Amino acid sequence: EKGTYPHYMLKEIDEQPLVMRKIIQEYQNEAGSVKINDDIANAVNAADRVYIIACGTSYHAGLVGKQFIESWAKVPVEVHVASEFNYNMPLLSENPLFIFISQSGETADSRAVLVTIKALGHKALTITNVPGSTLSREADYTLLLHAGPEIAVASTKAYTAQIAVLAILAAKTAESKGHSLEFDLVKELGIAANAMEALCDQKEEMDYIAREYLSTTRNCFFIGRAVDYYVGLEGALKLKEISYIQAEGFAGGELKHGTIALIENGTPIIALATQGHVNLSIRGNVKEVVARGANPCIISLKGLEEEDDRFVLPEVHESLTPLVSVVPLQLIAYFAALHRGCDVDKPRNLAKSVTVE
Ligand code: F6R
Repeated sequence: EKGTYPHYMLKEIDEQPLVMRKIIQEYQNEAGSVKINDDIANAVNAADRVYIIACGTSYHAGLVGKQFIESWAKVPVEVHVASEFNYNMPLLSENPLFIFISQSGETADSRAVLVTIKALGHKALTITNVPGSTLSREADYTLLLHAGPEIAVASTKAYTAQIAVLAILAAKTAESKGHSLEFDLVKELGIAANAMEALCDQKEEMDYIAREYLSTTRNCFFIGRAVDYYVGLEGALKLKEISYIQAEGFAGGELKHGTIALIENGTPIIALATQGHVNLSIRGNVKEVVARGANPCIISLKGLEEEDDRFVLPEVHESLTPLVSVVPLQLIAYFAALHRGCDVDKPRNLAKSVTVE
C-alpha cells in the first residue's frame, strides 16, 4: 500500500535507506563482515569470467557491479543486454559463470539467455527481488534483494539493492580469493544508507531543480565518467520513461564526437562528479558544453565540489557513490514527470515486467 504517499515511486525512493539496512542485516555474519552462501562465492571464484545478463535498469546495475567484481575479486566481467545475447553471442570463456540480474525474475529476454546457457551446461546465479520467480527457480543459485515489492513501473529501490548485493558478492569473492578489501564494506554501506536518508529529506530542492532545468525542455543529457557514466545512463532512463523528455546518458568524453551538435542555448546537462580520478576531466567536458550554451547542473560529491555546483552529495566511499548519486536523479525524474502531468507510476507503453521477447 502506498499509504500517505501520492505515488508508489516516491514511496519506493524513500524506502531505499531501509532496504540498505535490511540488506546489511541479511548479508552480515556475527563478526560484522559480509556473509554469502559459500557455494555462491566459490562459483564466482571458480569462474574464469563472469557474464552479467540483464535488461534496462538491472543492466545499469550490472555495469556498476562489474567494477566491484573486477576491482575487488579480480575476475573479468562482461555485461550484456539480454535481448542481444542470443543473437550476437560473444565468444565464451572456458569456464564462465552467468549472473542474471532481474528485479521481477520474470523478464523474458533474460530467461531466453538462461535457457541457452543452461543447454550449454553453464552455471547461473540469479539476483532477484522475487523468491520463487522463474529466473530464480531455473538458475543454480539465487541471491535475494530483500527490497520488498516494487510496484511503480520505474525501478528505483531494486536498482540500489542490486548494487549493494553485487558489492557484497564481490567483497565475499575477494575475501575467499585472499584479496581483502582496504575498507569495511558493511560499515560503508551503513554510511551510504544514512546519506541516502539525508538525500530523501531534500525533496524540495530536487523539485526545485526539476522546475529550474526541465520544465520546458525537449531534451536533456546526462554526462559522467567512469562509474558516473553508468549512473548517468540510469538517470536518463528514469527521466525519459516517466517524463517523456528525451534524455540520454553519455560518457563525458564522447559528447564532442557527435552529440555536442545537439547542444543549444539552454539545453540542460546534468553532470555527475563523484570520482576524484576524473574530476578534472568531467569538469572540462562541462566547460565544452557550456561554451555552446548548455545549462549545466553539476552534482558532485562532498570533497570534490566546486563553487558553481548545483548540488553536493554527502560523502560516501568512492566505490559506493552510485547508491547516493542516483537518488537525486530519481527524484528529479519524479518531479519533472509530476510537473508535466504524467502518470508517474504507470508511464505509457510500459509494463512492470516484460514477459515477451
Ligand atoms: C526501468 C525498468 C526496466 C527494468 C527492465 C528489467 O525503470 O524498470 O528497465 O529494469 O525491464 O526488469 P527486471 O529487472 O524485472 O528484469
